[in-house]
Amino acid sequence: MQQLKGLILSGGRGTRLRPITHTSAKQLVPVANKPVLFYGIEAMAQAGIDEVGIIIAPETGGEIRAAAGDGSRFGVKLTYIVQDRPAGLAHAVLTAEEFLGESPFVMYLGDNLLQGGIGDLVDAFREHSPDALILLTPVPDPEHYGVAELRDGAVVHLVEKPSAPQTDLALVGVYMFTPVVHVAARAIEPSARGELEITDAIQHLVDQGRRVEPHIVQGWWKDTGRLEDMLAANRLVLDTIAGHVEGELVQSQVDGRVVIEAGARLERCAVRGPAIIGAGARLVDCYVGPYTAIGEDCEISNAEVEHSILLARSVVRDLDGRMESSLLGRNVKVGRAHRQPRAFRFLVGDNSEIGIL
Ligand code: TTP
Repeated sequence: MQQLKGLILSGGRGTRLRPITHTSAKQLVPVANKPVLFYGIEAMAQAGIDEVGIIIAPETGGEIRAAAGDGSRFGVKLTYIVQDRPAGLAHAVLTAEEFLGESPFVMYLGDNLLQGGIGDLVDAFREHSPDALILLTPVPDPEHYGVAELRDGAVVHLVEKPSAPQTDLALVGVYMFTPVVHVAARAIEPSARGELEITDAIQHLVDQGRRVEPHIVQGWWKDTGRLEDMLAANRLVLDTIAGHVEGELVQSQVDGRVVIEAGARLERCAVRGPAIIGAGARLVDCYVGPYTAIGEDCEISNAEVEHSILLARSVVRDLDGRMESSLLGRNVKVGRAHRQPRAFRFLVGDNSEIGIL
């Protein structure tokens, strides 16, 4: 078989994660303080794939290039491919056609996380040589996903976000294709939402008598496209970390598995893991509860934070109640206004959400 390549999709609109995605790529939102995208690149490297193409959007591509670089630190060679508009996953495949050439490839959605990596399915693909291989997992809410119907162990029907799903087997955001997918992607028409859907391209392969093999995922899978999924992914990854303290603890107590990165300083704080506190963070008189990831150079004082993700340089001060299930972008400030008259004061961007006590 020809050398397997990798294709990671990191374009898209990211509307469900606004306002974070107004200014930044959702694939760079950190899960346990590491950008989601990096988990995908690492999965490729672990499966022995060393040529990886990354689909980027014109708006957020620069930031993704700056973060992932040439790939050498992951042990892969990264090639960036600009998709001029987010016209669908099958459109992204066509955009990458020149890079992919005649190679079979693994396609990985850049905002997805797959426990246990992709080694298993690469092995199955090599062993059985199907025309395509799709990953499936049972979900409680199949109407939100692409759904597959199987017969005698083969894929017979795929539907994107069906209103009346026939099975609970959702398509996981990792696929393996041979070059016949290019022909399929060219043959299909845009869907009702105006996108070239990968489910339609795969259905086309099935209709042409091509062999599409299903592979049920072992372990968890998370699509981080919405806030609650991002928090769930953060929980799942934090559940697997081993604690270590490199930062400085002053009259502070740490329970459970907690990572405190170099240069972080905690004074009169209690941290209950699993949690991670990024390099250079400054925490004073606060409580950090389970499933919290605090980014680099954040500042928290007189506050309680739990089950949340704080991106770099955010500041949380003097809260009366506990902050939980929150995602703060970069340089966000949450605090108490001491000015008169006593009032709530906000400077909030489009599509933000604020919940107050
Ligand atoms: P989605 O999450 O399905 O789409 P989206 O990013 O536009 O988000 P939303 O629905 O919230 O507006 O995309 C899955 C992944 O594929 C994600 O990493 C973005 C990427 N993608 C592309 O690279 N090109 C595309 O044309 C599309 C639609 C998505």
